[in-house]
Amino acid sequence: MDNDNASERSHVERDYFLCRLSDLSERQTLELDINERQLFAIRQNDQLYAYWNSCPHMGIPLNWMPGKFLDLDGELLQCSAHGALFQIESGECIGGPCVGDELSAIALKQEGDQYFIAAGQPLPAPLVNLRAAALRDLD
Ligand code: FES
Repeated sequence: MDNDNASERSHVERDYFLCRLSDLSERQTLELDINERQLFAIRQNDQLYAYWNSCPHMGIPLNWMPGKFLDLDGELLQCSAHGALFQIESGECIGGPCVGDELSAIALKQEGDQYFIAAGQPLPAPLVNLRAAALRDLD
């Protein structure tokens, strides 16, 4: 029986077109939602890296503004909540409250200059909705 509830899916059910490498300039990011999960990709040194947009510290999105994922120096990914810093190429946290943890990398499929989110990989848990949790606590 098919499950039509995207939030309850456990795997990416098909390839999703992400972008062409040439669509992004150096360290430019791109955001996308699939199956009610957020992800982002970033180009660095002619490589494309993609991660689920969920900070390992609290399971909330890294960015508070669209497309804003980098620290002030533009060298590292930075979580806007508590400032955790992550290597672009590995997703490893090298500063902040979750040092040693990693962003959850996304497997990409490349066809020429085009990149796709590869089918079959596990989906992360849905993002934590802090506002909804706070409102529940008030009940
Ligand atoms: S939620 Fe990202 S550093 Fe705390």
